[in-house]
Order: sequence, then C-alpha cells, then structure tokens
Amino acid sequence: MTPKAGTLYGIGVGPGDPDLITLKALRVLERVPHIFASCSTKNNYSLALNIVRSHLNGAGLEHLPFPMTRDAQVLEEAWDRNARRVLEVLATGSDAAFVTLGDPLTYSTYGYLLKTLKRLQPEVRVITIPGITSYNAAAALTHIPLTEGEESFYLVSGAMGAARLREVIDTADNIVMLKTYRHFDDIYQALEELNLLDRATCISLCGLKGETVVEDLRHLKGKRLPYLSMIIIKKKGRGY
Ligand SMILES: C[S@@+](CC[C@H](N)C(=O)[O-])C[C@H]1O[C@@H](n2cnc3c(N)ncnc32)[C@H](O)[C@@H]1O
Repeated sequence: MTPKAGTLYGIGVGPGDPDLITLKALRVLERVPHIFASCSTKNNYSLALNIVRSHLNGAGLEHLPFPMTRDAQVLEEAWDRNARRVLEVLATGSDAAFVTLGDPLTYSTYGYLLKTLKRLQPEVRVITIPGITSYNAAAALTHIPLTEGEESFYLVSGAMGAARLREVIDTADNIVMLKTYRHFDDIYQALEELNLLDRATCISLCGLKGETVVEDLRHLKGKRLPYLSMIIIKKKGRGY
C-alpha cells in the first residue's frame, strides 16, 4: 500500500535572531523528520537553516540549490527539480519543512517553490507558517514606526537600483527598500537627488553578528553594503 503523502510546512524563521521564530514554527521544526532550505548553487550555505539549527532534534537537513541568475529557463528548471525532490520526500509519507528567512511569502524562493509544487501536484498538502519580516525586526530595533494614521507604506526592491523608489516616491509616505546591496550607489544618488538622505535609515544584519544602524546615510557614500541591508525612508522625517 502506498503511504499517505506527508505535508510540507513552509516556514518563515524570522530575519536572524533565533528568538524571533514563532511558537508554531518551533513546534513543527522540533518534530518534522526532514528540513529543506534553499542555497545558492555556488555554496551550501543557508542562513535560514543556521537560524533554526539550535532548535532542531536530529531532523535530516537538505539543501535545495537555486542558481543566482535572472535566466527564466534556468530558474524554472531549478524550481522544477527542487519541487520534484520535495514531492519525492512527501511521497514516502514523511512530513517536511522548507525554511526561509523572514516571512516565506515576502520576496522569497518559497513562493516559486509553492507555485511549482501546485503545478506538478495540485493535491499536495502545504501549510505556510508566517515569519517576522526583516523590516518588522528593523523597525523594532530602531523604534521607527513603519506607518501611522492614514499614511501609506510601500515595500520595494532595490535589486534593479533606484527605479522602484523613483516610481513610488510621489505617492508614498513611508518606504522600505530591501535588496539594496548590489546597486547602493544608484540608490544613494537617488536619495540625494530627492532630498531624502536625512529621512533614510540603513539597517544591516539585523539581529545578526555585525548588526549596524546608520542614521546619516552620508557615512555610507561609496561604500559596499552587506547583502542583508535595507533602507527605511520616511518622507515626513523620522519624527525624532
Ligand atoms: C530575498 S529578500 C528576503 C526577505 C525576507 N523574506 C523577509 O521577510 O524579510 C532578502 C533581503 O531581505 C533583507 N533582509 C533579510 N534579512 C535581513 C536582516 N537580518 N537584516 C537586514 N536586512 C535583511 C535584505 O534587504 C535582503 O537583501
């Protein structure tokens, strides 16, 4: 008799501090026999896995390699391969977890994995457990309210430089820009042009070794940011 397929738990483990894992996530992580985490094809490193490591009870750990490319076909092949591997484990009857940094449905490989799983096997059982996002943790660290009253709040990506920032700046009251590290020069220039340097705060490695908060972005001019960096911009100022 074929075993009843297991359930996949898509788990957000928070942005770095292992104490920022939810109780719900913890309970699943303590009991699932198999844990997946994505890693780059260049190395076997997963920060999400490192964050949860101290909470595990001997689960099997497996990296799912995702290439760092924008080539849609290469990416699709990788998601397909990885989703098939997850389905293979679930088909044995074992539950499994896929851990991701922050929240699993916010700029995360989990979204792609989920779509591919559903396409390959629409009846697959998946439970998603939300996680504390990097910008929620950064707001708490800096005591910066993300949005108040009738204000708007935009979450944008800096992966293409300042383009998204320029798109939303006229209507946004508050902006959080993630993925700022690769094109920080361009983002800095845009903030300067838009007179926002005094209204922006840069938070790097929140909750992790090397955590930094820079309130005067001029100190960062020409510098390289760590991969885990974001900028919180409050158009009306920080309020203090
Ligand atoms: C692929 S996105 C992942 C976002 C994540 N799913 C979340 O909920 O926050 C990666 C970006 O998130 C931000 N990030 C994630 N963790 C961070 C941390 N501990 N400190 C600062 N920024 C972080 C950085 O902007 C980084 O480039």
